[in-house]
Amino acid sequence: MNNIQDFYNINQFPGDYDVTYCVSAATNGFNPYINFILDNIKKDDKIIDVGCGTGYITNTIATLKQNDITGLDFSNAIKIAKGKSILLENNVKWLKKDFFDLDENIKYDVIICQGVFHHMPNYVHAIKKFEKILNEDGVLLLGVYNRWVKKLQKIIPLSFHNSSILKTDQMLCPFEVGFSRKQVKNLFSNFKINNSYPNTYEYFPNVHLTAKINSGGLTIFRLEKR
Ligand SMILES: C[S@@+](CC[C@H](N)C(=O)[O-])C[C@H]1O[C@@H](n2cnc3c(N)ncnc32)[C@H](O)[C@@H]1O
Repeated sequence: MNNIQDFYNINQFPGDYDVTYCVSAATNGFNPYINFILDNIKKDDKIIDVGCGTGYITNTIATLKQNDITGLDFSNAIKIAKGKSILLENNVKWLKKDFFDLDENIKYDVIICQGVFHHMPNYVHAIKKFEKILNEDGVLLLGVYNRWVKKLQKIIPLSFHNSSILKTDQMLCPFEVGFSRKQVKNLFSNFKINNSYPNTYEYFPNVHLTAKINSGGLTIFRLEKR
């Protein structure tokens, strides 16, 4: 299999979940990625979650915040996302669509793109698309694998704590790439990085990211337009 859409139609990420648990993990600070996202959302911000998968992040935000929020994904995972949304009676707008076909006339204040960009073979084009749909004072919250941790993953035996979907996603996706902080900075030349979780340093090997080896050193950057 070499098509990303086919892969995620079969391996719907992150699978089923209990939103009550997600919300309590967020409110208790057990999920620092979600906390980072929540901290960067202001009242009245219009949000899009690009590559929302089964909607775990989108539905958690919609449970905790009153913002206008859209979840977009081109895989069948969006059906699970919608199903949860109905149970939760939230008003997330769900779009089953390729990100590259998204209407560029609609602008957003917050773009969330967690664990998706590094699975886009045409990721360079995605940067232009982000620029077009982001309001001038908006923020892009970009969660990407770390280049060095991904290399390390190939040589260190990993334990996925019985999470087969995480294992499949980490080991079998037909396209993936990891990025150092410097590469993110260079690729997003019209943006500036002004925060990240975990913290990262440009001229530092960022060895602390190996603590996130099971998720490929996933780092979420807050990017703003220059
Ligand atoms: C690893 S999952 C991440 C899901 C979710 N963001 C999360 O962190 O739980 C990657 C998702 O990106 C979606 N995706 C990848 N490329 C896409 C594209 N061009 N347009 C829409 N969705 C895309 C896949 O279908 C998949 O559901």
